[in-house]
Amino acid sequence: RGQVTTRQIAGMRAGGEKIAILTAYDATFAAVADAAGVDCIMVGDSLGMVCQGQTSTVGVSLESMQYHTRCVAQGLARAGGGALIVTDLPFGAYQVSRDQAIRSAVQLMQAGAQMVKLEGGGWTTDIVAFLVERGIPVCGHLGLTPQTVSALGGYRVQGRDDVAAQRLRADAVALDQAGATMMVLEMVPARLAATVTGDMTACATIGIGAGNGTAGQVLVMHDMLGLNLGRMAKFVRNFMLETGEVRAAFAAYVRAVKDGSFPDNGLHGW
Ligand code: KIV
Ligand code: NA
Repeated sequence: RGQVTTRQIAGMRAGGEKIAILTAYDATFAAVADAAGVDCIMVGDSLGMVCQGQTSTVGVSLESMQYHTRCVAQGLARAGGGALIVTDLPFGAYQVSRDQAIRSAVQLMQAGAQMVKLEGGGWTTDIVAFLVERGIPVCGHLGLTPQTVSALGGYRVQGRDDVAAQRLRADAVALDQAGATMMVLEMVPARLAATVTGDMTACATIGIGAGNGTAGQVLVMHDMLGLNLGRMAKFVRNFMLETGEVRAAFAAYVRAVKDGSFPDNGLHGW
């Protein structure tokens, strides 16, 4: 398979093929996930937790994101892998100004990212449009946004009441119109995520703990392998238990996302 492109992602969204994504932070796991057929690899700032042992993503630096992006890009290059690399802009690297956001995004693109991800609605719309206009594909992230966990008051389901749901819908439409290619929806009710995915937006919605009505799914690799330092989130499925082998676990995940059997709405929707 060749390089996965933003055009293909858009085509999958339009055509109804589910998009399968895993996080990865190093060369080997990135290459193995790629070989299993993931469409994108997210170099998430979740690396602060799984690689660095921090208790949140708030302390992750731009330098760390560059380093792990380089590791992943090298791994894919060496293996001839074509998964699209999406890297998180870390907390504090895009909040100050458009100027700061583009400088940070350029650093990540030069490290090997092919798309950058940033959290939040409202004020981010302006930043997203600014980056997209300058040739940087962007993935939004709404619902539970871990970088603002302090403001949210913990890692909890978002968009449950009418006001919060309405705000999320408005944010999703704004991000879509600003030109986002993808949008992570984290820990929001399945019905809300499905509504946002319908005619409301054209970009590829990627769910995590958001039911199976989104255009695609993402999981933190360590979680779906059953490896976790803290408490495992309820929406995670342990694919390692079912398969007993990392390559097979990744392949089973891709299959389950593509055929719509993960997540199970009854178990993993809110
Ligand atoms: O940091 C991360 O890994 C993420 C994905 C789970 C969406 O943001
Ligand atoms: Na993240």
